[in-house]
Order: sequence, then structure tokens, then C-alpha cells
Amino acid sequence: MTILSSCTTDTIIGAAQALMESALVAFPTETVYGLGADATNPVAVSRIYSTKGRPENHPLIVHIPSLDLLGEWASEIPDYAISLARDFWPGPLTLIMHRSELAGDFVTGGQNTVGLRVPAQPLALALLKSFVSLGGKGVAAPSANRFGAVSPTTASAVEEEIGAFLDKERDLILDGGPSLVGVESTIVDCTGSAPRILRLGAVTAEMIEESTGLKVLAPEQVDIRVSGSLDSHYSPAAKVVLDALPESGEGFIAWATIPTPSGAVRLASPSSIEQYARDLYSALRLGDQMGISTIAVLQPEGEGLAAAIRDRLKKAAF
Ligand code: TXA
Ligand code: MG
Repeated sequence: MTILSSCTTDTIIGAAQALMESALVAFPTETVYGLGADATNPVAVSRIYSTKGRPENHPLIVHIPSLDLLGEWASEIPDYAISLARDFWPGPLTLIMHRSELAGDFVTGGQNTVGLRVPAQPLALALLKSFVSLGGKGVAAPSANRFGAVSPTTASAVEEEIGAFLDKERDLILDGGPSLVGVESTIVDCTGSAPRILRLGAVTAEMIEESTGLKVLAPEQVDIRVSGSLDSHYSPAAKVVLDALPESGEGFIAWATIPTPSGAVRLASPSSIEQYARDLYSALRLGDQMGISTIAVLQPEGEGLAAAIRDRLKKAAF
């Protein structure tokens, strides 16, 4: 398959056309890179599952270019979901709602809900707009990694993860540079009387309460099919050890102010929480590329994005 860098309007139209013709197109989003297929095409969507090695009952997020398409995919949309979509789309927020007839079992994993998101990445938005202008309805896209592995935040990481499983003649990888947020979207269940967070991300509980005027419901034991809710996920090949200092030869991720113990290999030195999120997955990936067997991570404290980072690290370390 081809990695397309410095994408022009023609490249984007070509990629949208490829999606219409059942190809897979990996594309950048502000969170992580996604592996996209026409969300109304069961054959194309089934190739997402085989390419990722993902169990077929795990639902996919449908990406749309704007709020206007919400009603095509979802039904019984609560007012608070509209507030969230207005305030945070395009952005790192996925809304789970009752599905319309358009959302087939092959996208929802057989559940009667559908996940929807408008990503805030210019290339992703241009691709989605172009796809819809060709008659498409939405692009199903999980993170473009093999099941259980670390999500890719660059086009070369996508190639490394799934390049060998893509069809070189038809499938495409669009390169839009590194993802600016770096951890997956916040997932909010909008099927109840108030929003419930299913996966932590850059849109925080505080932001959701501010937008909706509602108290966010406590997370309940979620269905195993929310794959990010599995105990082990987002895992590099290296063993991840939390809140310990590295031995000599081990990898180390910590705030820039913390010195590297002698002999350890520094993989990231963030100086803000945003940078911590942005650099985390590429640092774990770098550790694997260097053949490092153990990576020690000093976790960030606090709520919001820090809590999302700790959530991913806990699963990476499981
Ligand atoms: O930031 C993101 O959300 C990225 C980018 C590419 O948009 N996508 C992403 O997709 O992280 P994925 O498939 O790797 O994770 C999506 C999560 C999964 O855990 C899936 O089970 C859950 O969303 N999900 C999707 N639809 C759902 C539904 N109807 N009900 C419950 N969970 C759902
Ligand atoms: Mg994923």
C-alpha cells in the first residue's frame, strides 16, 4: 500500500473514491490514526477486523464530517448529546447513542447503539467531507493498530502496525503528521438520563458537566466489548512498570524535571500534560524499536488528561 504525504485536494478526493470502492484508508486524527472503511459496506468493514486481528463483536466508531449527519446514524438523541456535539465537535469526543437503521450490526458489533465522532484534524475532515460529497454516509475507523497494541500517532507507526496486512494495490495510508492530542477520544454513553463516561480522554468530566449542566454518571461495569475497557490494552512488547525508577538498560518516561538514572534510556521528557499525552505512545513504540525489554514510567498526577494517561498506562502495564 502507499503512504501519501503532503496530501493535495486531488489526493483526498482519490482517497474518498477509494473508500467508496471498498478500500481501507488509514488517516490521521487529532487523537490517533484511524483505519477507515465505508461504514455502510459490510465487506469493507470486515476487512478492518481482519487487518487489525480484532474480534468481530467489538463495535467501531463512525466518523462523520459534521453534526448535520448525526440524525442519519442515531435515533432518540437526547438534548445533552446535542450540547456536547455543539461544544466539542470537531474534537476528541465520541458519543454513543441509540442507532438508526443505517448502523448495521457489522459496525455496532450487534449492539443497538452506535458510536459517532467528528474529528478535529484538517485532513480527516477534508476526507470525510469529500466522502460524503461522493454519496458516502460515514467512515468506520478504529485506531490503526493490531488488536491490543499501542495506537499509532504517525503514518509510519501505522505502516509498522498494519502495513503487512493491507492490500498494497488498493489501500492507502494518509500522512498528516503526528497526532496533536495523542490519546484516544473520550467516549460518552448518551443513552441514559445523563452522560456517562466510558473511556477517559481530552474532553474531561468537568467539561462535560459544564456543557450539559448535568452531573456525569459514575462509570459502571462496562461491557467487555468496549475494547478499551479490557484490562490489558494499549500494550507495547516491552514490559511497562509504573512509578518505579529504571535499572540500567531500561527505558524511562518521566517529566522533564526528573533526571534520567544512570544507564537508563530516556524515551520521553514531557514538560506539560498535553505533551505527555502527545508523546506517550511514540515513546512506548520507540522503546520497542530499540529492543528495550522494560520501560519504567512515572505517571502524571491530577484529573483530566492526566487521568486518561494513567488509564492507558494501567492497561499497558497489565
Ligand atoms: O480517538 C479515537 O476514538 C480513535 C480515532 C481513530 O477516532 N478511535 C478509536 O477507536 O480509538 P477504537 O475502535 O480503537 O476504540 C473505540 C472504542 C472501542 O473500545 C469500542 O468498543 C468503543 O469505542 N465503542 C464503539 N462503539 C461503541 C458502542 N456502540 N458502544 C460502546 N462502545 C463502543
Ligand atoms: Mg483502539
